[in-house]
Amino acid sequence: MEAAQTTHFGFENVRIEEKQAKVDDVFHKVASRYDLMNDVMSVGLHRFWKDTLVAMLRPPKSAPFRHLDVAGGTGDVAFRILEAGGPRTHVDALDINGSMLGVGADRAAEKGYGDRIAFIECNAEALSLPDKSYDGYTIAFGIRNVPRIPLALKEAYRVLKRGGRFLCLEFAPVEMPVLDRIYDAYSFNVIPPMGKMITGDAQPYQYLVESIRQFPRPDAFAGMIRDAGFENVSYRALTGGIANIHSGWKL
Ligand SMILES: C[S@@+](CC[C@H](N)C(=O)[O-])C[C@H]1O[C@@H](n2cnc3c(N)ncnc32)[C@H](O)[C@@H]1O
Repeated sequence: MEAAQTTHFGFENVRIEEKQAKVDDVFHKVASRYDLMNDVMSVGLHRFWKDTLVAMLRPPKSAPFRHLDVAGGTGDVAFRILEAGGPRTHVDALDINGSMLGVGADRAAEKGYGDRIAFIECNAEALSLPDKSYDGYTIAFGIRNVPRIPLALKEAYRVLKRGGRFLCLEFAPVEMPVLDRIYDAYSFNVIPPMGKMITGDAQPYQYLVESIRQFPRPDAFAGMIRDAGFENVSYRALTGGIANIHSGWKL
């Protein structure tokens, strides 16, 4: 009998086909307080990391630019791209979770972005989008949650045009001496109780801190990006390696 394929859901080992439902449950629970919790637990740092991601993308001020933000959640990265780009920048914010997208759509309406943004409910592993249709692809704090990462990377490559840029912002286990201890103590002792206080549930944030420890080291993840076909692959560490921005090109 063939062994079942397994993966991580935090520190738990699960069958690969079980992970997505567990992840979806996490984000359905936290959607309405997701943005507030990000500010509190990262002491605002996620804003700087996302701004750095968008500065690297550099959407043009006047030329047309079609962008796909995958695992776009409540629209935080998509909105930054619209602000940085010109009037002909269009962003499709795609996510598997309708609750997260619902918060994003309300925020976009408040901000008055009109048809410069669209929200698409879809799985990053199987994009319902044509080949070679985007100039840029971003995924921020999303890839760690996807059960079959190589499939999502292959899909990113497929939907990008030649010359298109792939950028991924993601946490990694911290390996800098001293910072690693402080970070671990903060992650495991402060974040889950803080999550309980703000969202009413510690479990989604216990999952968050555990899932970061299971994510590949930046060099290994860069190798996965190369395996999907991307070229000139590189990464940049942010805040002592708490987060990294990975970059690749479809040439
Ligand atoms: C931590 S949130 C990041 C949201 C946003 N990018 C940000 O940085 O604020 C992770 C998001 O990944 C989404 N996600 C998880 N698995 C996914 C999948 N297979 N396909 C698309 N989105 C997925 C979740 O629904 C959630 O909205």
